[in-house]
Amino acid sequence: MDRYLVFGHPVRHSKSPFIHTLFARQTQQELEYGLAEPAVDEFAQALRTFFDQGGKGCNVTVPFKEQAFTLVDRLSPRAKRAGAVNTIKLTDDGVLLGDNTDGAGLVADLKSHGVTLADSRILLLGAGGAARGALAPLLAELPSELVIANRTHTKAQQLAAEFHDLGPVTAQIYEQLAGPFDLVINSTSASLQGELPPLAPALIHTDIAIYDMMYGASDTAFICWAKQHGARQTMDGLGMLVEQAAEAFTVWRGIRPGTKQVLRELKRNLGVI
Ligand code: ATR
Repeated sequence: MDRYLVFGHPVRHSKSPFIHTLFARQTQQELEYGLAEPAVDEFAQALRTFFDQGGKGCNVTVPFKEQAFTLVDRLSPRAKRAGAVNTIKLTDDGVLLGDNTDGAGLVADLKSHGVTLADSRILLLGAGGAARGALAPLLAELPSELVIANRTHTKAQQLAAEFHDLGPVTAQIYEQLAGPFDLVINSTSASLQGELPPLAPALIHTDIAIYDMMYGASDTAFICWAKQHGARQTMDGLGMLVEQAAEAFTVWRGIRPGTKQVLRELKRNLGVI
């Protein structure tokens, strides 16, 4: 049977095996999908061994995405832009192809929630790997403006300069942000510590869409805060997780699985519904 897995550390709580097993059942693909948690300095060897032993493809998650970028034979254009690889496919001619499906997953999830990206003013919070992966797919939707704000402003400036050729992207300091924005995407890891990015409450209005790439069994700190200040449409990163997985599955198998039912089952599994 064709073998796939996700590399991460820690990876025990990954939902990828659950999601890909449901995709495989739904599309009647024969495959198995497991977990691998190599020591941080043993990822390269573990990756090589997996493919030497007949593995067909893998996902890569924290903290290995940047290293995976350096280990593959060939990069997709979107992985090149993201500077990170979350999906690897062994092609028929034996080439390890590195791809990045995170940004496409974000955009697919935003669209599935009915969020309009074309001609919109988007505020992206954070300038780490998650923000970098999102930029090219977001700019491809032709927003009127995309503003990056980050605690360390120089990182936001660097990102804006790097992606400037793809669209109207600028960097602004949190305290100097001028609304209104149509969509705020939180790519920071602040919610992991129950913290908030230093965003002025005045930027939140009833018609704004709020997206937190983090997720949990209950609302993230950022979503709670946005709701308190009047946001009516809030979304967490669970849908992005399922959509990036669907994109990876499509890269591997050439067949696109449906995501709605899988997302519902994942929510049930997490105790969200
Ligand atoms: P990832 O790869 O998930 O994006 P990362 O590269 O560690 O992770 O980036 C984390 C992002 O969250 C950074 O933009 C970080 O801001 P700094 O560049 O200033 O470190 C941001 N971040 C983390 N905690 C934050 C907090 N409490 N408030 C605001 N931003 C925060």
